[in-house]
Amino acid sequence: MQSAEHTIKPNAIPRRSFLNLAFFSSLALLLAQSLAALVKFLKPVPSGGFGGEVYAGRVDEFTVGSVNRVLAGRFYLVRTEEGLLALWQRCTHLGCSVPWVDAEAQFHCPCHGSLFNNLGEVTGGPAPRPLDIFPISIRNGEVWVDTGKPIQRSRFDAGQVTRA
Ligand code: FES
Repeated sequence: MQSAEHTIKPNAIPRRSFLNLAFFSSLALLLAQSLAALVKFLKPVPSGGFGGEVYAGRVDEFTVGSVNRVLAGRFYLVRTEEGLLALWQRCTHLGCSVPWVDAEAQFHCPCHGSLFNNLGEVTGGPAPRPLDIFPISIRNGEVWVDTGKPIQRSRFDAGQVTRA
């Protein structure tokens, strides 16, 4: 006489089939997770950081005459009477980061002493051209700066300012 443990129920999955099913299900899950990780890795850099479009703030946050550092985008947002200018903080001499010095009311490069006014124009030192600018777009009162498209310029002109 057989014990109850060894009887095979009519609807039960045989042990070998169950193990195969568990193995292949786990394998499929692992492959799906690997594929998801690969897709995430290969996706282009999302906006929001340097190299993409960076949110700078609301237009009304920037008072006329102010020079505002936007760390995430590595630029300064300058508000003039006419509008906004986004200046890349990268020195046009050899690429050092140029800080705005409030006490001097100018950008002063710590590396070789280049000086730039609030429009990014060279006022002293070895820098060969003004600070580069980034395109600005204003949408629903929000200021967005495209840090993937720096623009070199030989001088400042009013057409570089985005009306705000
Ligand atoms: S890198 Fe700025 S002056 Fe040389």
